[in-house]
Amino acid sequence: MKLRIICSCIALSIAMLSPAFAADSTAVFVQKCGGCHKKGGDAVPVNPADKAGVVWTKYFKRGRHPVDLSSQVNEADMEVILGFLQDHAADSDHPVAAAIPK
Ligand code: HEC
Repeated sequence: MKLRIICSCIALSIAMLSPAFAADSTAVFVQKCGGCHKKGGDAVPVNPADKAGVVWTKYFKRGRHPVDLSSQVNEADMEVILGFLQDHAADSDHPVAAAIPK
């Protein structure tokens, strides 16, 4: 019984750490931010590794983004995107500098 609980905990941890789980937040970022920020897009390319984690949070919580995104990015998606930016920020363990393909 105990073993079964331990096994399912391990399985759950593996599921959460797997690329499929990570790809979800990447997809939200690419979909919601990439429309404008992809390479060769209307706005400059943006990568999580452009800023430190705390700077990303301040950037959006203080409304520094030059375009109002409230009509295209809802709060839940913004939380997911902020999580993604934190996880791959300049000062994270896994900085990402090429998240939005052409
Ligand atoms: C409707 C188009 C649009 C969307 C969607 C959008 N942005 Fe922007 N963003 C802009 C524009 C326009 C600028 C001004 C800079 C420029 O013209 O390249 C900008 C600027 C930025 C900057 C400052 C870049 C710099 O070096 O000055 C960051 C960081 C940024 N956006 C992040 C994001 C993130 C993260 C998302 C997704 C949540 C996002 N943006 C979604 C249009 C957009």
